[in-house]
Amino acid sequence: MTTDVQTFETKSLCPLDSREALIDEVWSGLCKRPRSLVPWMLYDCEGSRLFECITTLPEYYPTRTERDIVANHAGAILAASGSDYSRPLRLLELGAGTAAKTGILLEAATRSRSQVTYFPIDVSSDALAAACESIGCLLPDVQLEPVVANYVTDPPRLEPFQGTTLAMYIGSSIGNFSPEEARTILRNLRAELRRGDALLLGTDMVKDEATLVRAYDDGEGVTAAFNLNILHRLNRELGANFDTGCFRHRARWNAAESRIEMHLESACDQTVNIPAAQLTLQFAAFETIHTENSYKFTTETLGALLDDAGFAIEQTWTDPQQWYALTLAGLR
Ligand code: AVJ
Repeated sequence: MTTDVQTFETKSLCPLDSREALIDEVWSGLCKRPRSLVPWMLYDCEGSRLFECITTLPEYYPTRTERDIVANHAGAILAASGSDYSRPLRLLELGAGTAAKTGILLEAATRSRSQVTYFPIDVSSDALAAACESIGCLLPDVQLEPVVANYVTDPPRLEPFQGTTLAMYIGSSIGNFSPEEARTILRNLRAELRRGDALLLGTDMVKDEATLVRAYDDGEGVTAAFNLNILHRLNRELGANFDTGCFRHRARWNAAESRIEMHLESACDQTVNIPAAQLTLQFAAFETIHTENSYKFTTETLGALLDDAGFAIEQTWTDPQQWYALTLAGLR
């Protein structure tokens, strides 16, 4: 399509030794009761591919709802996130994934700003490579600086910058974390920002239970496959022998915690070996592994979280049903 595609070097701040990290998580998560695993384990190459499939399902409203909000308000979002158009803009994105929605904002940014740098951070180097490939092709003027990192364990450090920084944390990724973890992630981000910089946060909102549960238990079974992939991954990478046909996908709404929970439920009494972790596990029938939380917000809980992390809400964009919110916040 174009010959001037930028080459970019993907930085890895702390090389992600996924094998060691997997073994640690298996030990800490599968030996206690109730058993649990951590959500980042869902996103290997196959998991990232399945998540992309989820985003196109009719039941999974968050991605398309957020994309519509971004598309309808890209100009306003950028105008609100730094009014001096002569200054360079640096767009930092946590959990960038394949950056489909960010492209819309970057495009709007290049129309009004002379210099735009895109700084995506993600645990998945595959997703980052795809993001940079597509942004580099569509918007060759955008400077790319991808970083492979786990932004929870290795908070991003920003170099001094003569311009405005917009930190984007969209896609409802913050919903994977407990309120305490979410506050820490946002506080760490806040510490890297200067006056005049801004945060754009995407959050899924509380709505009727049936809609919420359907989004995490689709008719085609793609979410079930996404959830079960965590066991396939342990089989592939740690030589485990999970019989994935003997585990069931479960999605349920926990109203007290305001979150959707995903679990894998053992269909029978069974024994599983994980050689690389030197573990043998006994599962009773109906015993579960908690694999993911997806927190849903209200205007109040969202406001409290941002306030706690040192941000002040400047503007909010939402869809007609108010199912999803994009919030722009400055430093408090
Ligand atoms: C990528 C964390 C935003 O919680 O909705 C989708 C992950 N899990 N279906 C979400 C997910 C099952 C998703 N996030």
